[in-house]
Amino acid sequence: KVADLKGLKQGQLRLAVITTAKYFIPRLLGPFCELYPGIDISLQVTNHEQILERMSQNLDDLYIMSQVPDNMDVNCEAFLENPLIVFAPVNHPLSKEKNIPIQRLSNQPFIMREPGSGTRRAVQSLFEEQGVTVKVKLELGSNEAIKQAIAGGLGISVLSRHTLLLDASDFSILDVQHFPIQRHWYMVYPAGKQLSIVARAYYDYLLAAARNFVDQNTDTTASSLEPTHG
Ligand code: PGA
Repeated sequence: KVADLKGLKQGQLRLAVITTAKYFIPRLLGPFCELYPGIDISLQVTNHEQILERMSQNLDDLYIMSQVPDNMDVNCEAFLENPLIVFAPVNHPLSKEKNIPIQRLSNQPFIMREPGSGTRRAVQSLFEEQGVTVKVKLELGSNEAIKQAIAGGLGISVLSRHTLLLDASDFSILDVQHFPIQRHWYMVYPAGKQLSIVARAYYDYLLAAARNFVDQNTDTTASSLEPTHG
């Protein structure tokens, strides 16, 4: 135990997370740094494909992503839901409708994430499965830019519900069939890699923080961000 504590006095933690996790992870680093002031942290925020690239080069201690690679031997643990929902401007005509058939999205100008994005991949595979072709008006490499474009009336899009945390009132969430696309965030690291004491401490810390978040948000945030049925 003494050795553990000593190891935590200083050290380095390298994290790489997908873009949707940047609404959640940085805020949690504050309390972690307070617990372990001697630890230097680097946080990379990139899309799914770049996370895979970093993982294959073994650049980081821990990865946070939604789609665990099936062609790499990894350890992974789901720690929080990351549902993808349909975003529209506040006064969008579909915002008052319930249970909207997914086919109706094909008439809507659509804003799509860049190739290499996990969000894009999940959206495209649902659309393919349902035989929906959307009109992609605009392709953007950032969730924030997409939100601005939606607010500016350029179209609708599908984004992680976590991108909404601070400005839910600027958008409406469309109640479209087959949505939300249910996903989770996973903590991932290469199998066979021995986690450093610091990385292990962060791993345990994050699992606890996620449990806390769920407890605090189950009744309030979650319901206020979801379309009301009936
Ligand atoms: P992205 O990842 O930033 O690559 O879209 C998000 C996700 O896969 O959930």
